[in-house]
Amino acid sequence: MHLSIKNLPALIIPACLLSLMACNQPSKTATTTMADSTTVALPADTGFKKTVDGKQTDYFTMKSKGGMQIAVTSYGAHLVGVLVPDKTGKLVSVALGFNDIDGYKKALSNYYGATIGRYGNRIAKGKFKLDGKEYTLATNNAPNSLHGGKKGFNDVVWDGKQIDSTTVQFTYLSKDMEEGYPGNLTSKVTYHVTDDNGIEISYEATTDKTTVVNLTNHSYFNLNGEGSGTILDHTAMIAADNFTPVDKTLIPTGKIVPVKGTPFDFTTAKTIGKDIDAKDEQISFGPGYDHNFALNKHDINTSIAKVVGDKSGIEMDIYTEEPGLQFYAGNFMDGSHLLRNGKKDDHRTAFAMETQHFPDAPNQPAFASTTLKPGQTYKTKTIYKFSVAK
Ligand code: GLA
Repeated sequence: MHLSIKNLPALIIPACLLSLMACNQPSKTATTTMADSTTVALPADTGFKKTVDGKQTDYFTMKSKGGMQIAVTSYGAHLVGVLVPDKTGKLVSVALGFNDIDGYKKALSNYYGATIGRYGNRIAKGKFKLDGKEYTLATNNAPNSLHGGKKGFNDVVWDGKQIDSTTVQFTYLSKDMEEGYPGNLTSKVTYHVTDDNGIEISYEATTDKTTVVNLTNHSYFNLNGEGSGTILDHTAMIAADNFTPVDKTLIPTGKIVPVKGTPFDFTTAKTIGKDIDAKDEQISFGPGYDHNFALNKHDINTSIAKVVGDKSGIEMDIYTEEPGLQFYAGNFMDGSHLLRNGKKDDHRTAFAMETQHFPDAPNQPAFASTTLKPGQTYKTKTIYKFSVAK
């Protein structure tokens, strides 16, 4: 929507009247959230059926038996809509996003809902060695390379196909030396909704030359509903006794240290806001949470993290085969983008939980390897499962 100055009085006067009316209502009405007051829907397909880089993009929806609905697009294999029932059975839009590809393009460096590759998270100074040869990547997050470089997997057009009403599959061939990475890498990302309201994301990749790969999804969640305020009162549990501290450029120091006694201890549930601004060197680097947690278990059958929306009662459990979880509390969100419901993407109004191998693993011999060789298949799975607090 375009706002011109001459339209402003027409918009401001009704807005003022509305807020005056809200002040006169009992407090219950005044604290009504987007989640309570708005009928939500998945975005229309028209915003996602475009031509990007000379390729036709596509849009697909999936519906679970449990009533969850999700939407994905072949542009960046983005997850562009997640609607889940709240405690009253009403659908809530719990993942932030836009109504069209243009919205995603404008907010590219935030990675809303994006599939991230070839390498999720940071590689120090954009350099790494494989078989004695040094490779150089774009340092798009100075001085480091972040989330695949200048034009990562989030900004390319994948081939998509709907397998059935609950499954959509995307494939993408990243050419040898694309963004500086060696090897033709064929990647497959499959979105599947489970009967019990899980979004299961399966990743696969093969290469014809030794390379590195670390794929993830960068959805931003607000379990009270997108645009409904900060996530600081959400409670979170992360089953990680250790995390990987970083330097001030957010590259791991290489140490894996206990969370006990630090703001990073989420082993028992606490609000995200409780220690997010604690006086702590690691917190000052975020600033806030933007760290990799070393998961105690990662076997797909154990919930490794649980977040609960304080207003909606919606819970999200994460299951993964990945050893790490980047918990990012939206510290770089600054309100510069309008979400699909017209709300701003303000500071810490969503969080991301990116399952991954550890950041900078190609330069950190103590971390589990992200090297993929010809003949091997990279295979990993993560589930974001939604339910309602009892
Ligand atoms: C990741 C990074 C953050 C930030 C976001 C996107 O989560 O770790 O530092 O770059 O992506 O804004």
